[in-house]
Amino acid sequence: MLIVHEPKTEAEIADYFSFRWLLLRKPWNYPEGSEKDEYESVSEHRIVKDHKGDILACGRVHLNTPEEAQIRYIAVSDVHRRKGVGHLLMEALESVARELGAERAVTNSREASIPFFESCGFEIIDDAPNELGKLKRKQMRKTLTDKHALILHPKWCKELQLTWHERIPISEHMGIKLHQYTERTIETRASLNKNINLHGSMFAGSIYSLATLTGWGMIFLQLKQKGLSGEIVLGDASIHYHKPITMRPRALCNIESVQTKFQILEKKKKCPVSLKVEILDNEQSVAEFSGQYWVLPEKVG
Ligand SMILES: CC(C)(COP(=O)(O)OP(=O)(O)OC[C@H]1O[C@@H](n2cnc3c(N)ncnc32)[C@H](O)[C@@H]1OP(=O)(O)O)[C@@H](O)C(=O)NCCC(=O)NCCS
Repeated sequence: MLIVHEPKTEAEIADYFSFRWLLLRKPWNYPEGSEKDEYESVSEHRIVKDHKGDILACGRVHLNTPEEAQIRYIAVSDVHRRKGVGHLLMEALESVARELGAERAVTNSREASIPFFESCGFEIIDDAPNELGKLKRKQMRKTLTDKHALILHPKWCKELQLTWHERIPISEHMGIKLHQYTERTIETRASLNKNINLHGSMFAGSIYSLATLTGWGMIFLQLKQKGLSGEIVLGDASIHYHKPITMRPRALCNIESVQTKFQILEKKKKCPVSLKVEILDNEQSVAEFSGQYWVLPEKVG
């Protein structure tokens, strides 16, 4: 059985770097130590081990920007190649990249490993600087989509995301994204890095904006579902912050919290909507928002 594992103990970390050196530097007569760079401490490292605890593969990922993850130092021991170990490792690193909020992964691939990265869904986008002064490389990229997100009505969801970005440009700067829509629940996420305050946690104003847009988005999608339209405005709101956000900002609005009679819009009357949005840091509930919105009927003519 193979396990993907984060090297944690001192001995494991030493074995990990030694494996990296053996496979990626020693064949070109580079000394021990040349396998490391200045990003080790800000990177996530993974190894694949067999049932005896021996390392069969290694790899690393770090963020170049909040959107872009760089994958480096992928290697599988010679005797275990072409058995899917490389793929297993890449799945794990891509999953870490998604968890960190990255939207795309990039790598500089040696010529010989281009077919491998292509098989993982990467495409060549440019030339990359040679490695060790001699190995030709290409820059490759892959868009990371969230594998577990459930998006019903993708067309409306795309329209919502575009509407946010066009009408409220700050939402794009805050990295606010629609993550899931199931007809009963909407989930949005924001980039922590783009909304960080002096204390290393999410700025309270950004949490408020995330909650406001989530409620707004829920109404937008509910109106679409009912074949209705109108201008959505926020009338009144309150928020209670219980804990800071230091990991992954998420906002959820469930249909159970939405109180309204959308049919009023058919009579061209303005329609009050009250709802609640729960703010989470990863899985932990950290704030609660109550919003009173209005949907204004569209003016005729
Ligand atoms: C590149 C490398 C990591 C691939 O690891 P791996 O465990 O053999 O890869 P997988 O078994 O998961 O391969 C998945 C697919 O990639 C493609 N692939 C992998 N190696 C390939 C090769 N040498 N030639 C052509 N296609 C290859 C194939 O499509 C393969 O699927 P298949 O075996 O069903 O045909 C491994 O060969 C390696 O460590 N090479 C040396 C170090 C290196 O170059 N690292 C990359 C640094 S940029």
